[in-house]
Amino acid sequence: MVKVLFVCLGNICRSPLAEGIFNKLLKEKNLDSKIASDSASTSNYHIGQTADKRTIKIGKKNGVEITHLARQIHLDDFQEFDYIFAMDNENFKNVKALEKKAQEVSDTKAKIYLIREFDNLYDDEIDDSENDSAWEVPDPYYGGELEFQECFDTLERCNIEFLKYLVKAHKLQ
Ligand code: 4NP
Repeated sequence: MVKVLFVCLGNICRSPLAEGIFNKLLKEKNLDSKIASDSASTSNYHIGQTADKRTIKIGKKNGVEITHLARQIHLDDFQEFDYIFAMDNENFKNVKALEKKAQEVSDTKAKIYLIREFDNLYDDEIDDSENDSAWEVPDPYYGGELEFQECFDTLERCNIEFLKYLVKAHKLQ
């Protein structure tokens, strides 16, 4: 089983949405017995809580059910998961710092990426971008429905590309 973990600050907006979208894609492509995903936070702000109401609503509107309860990333995750995706630069920095700690305890296997490294919208442009925030999934927490829909669209684009990559890399089809 290939295991993927999506990580954001609170695990109530971006990462549970990414997990829900990815799991739906896995089911549609009959890959859910070969690949699994989960999500987690870097902070301890919302541990045990359901996703934000707006996250659940935008998921529903786009045919994705979100039932995840927030949890914080822990050191074992770096041994358990093959891929860990951070939503923004701050998450990435925090995840890399935790990876270092995990490696002090034992070998880790997780490859860590910013999820927008798989955004095909940027195939040409991002290479030239000097703007670091272009690599981030903007946090919709302080936004409205428009920001949540943009977040959904971005995550869906990235997940479709990442799944294509996974199928090839792990020879799954
Ligand atoms: P997320 O969004 O990291 O995408 O889940 C946020 C959720 C909660 C907070 C910030 C961002 N917060 O400050 O509580």
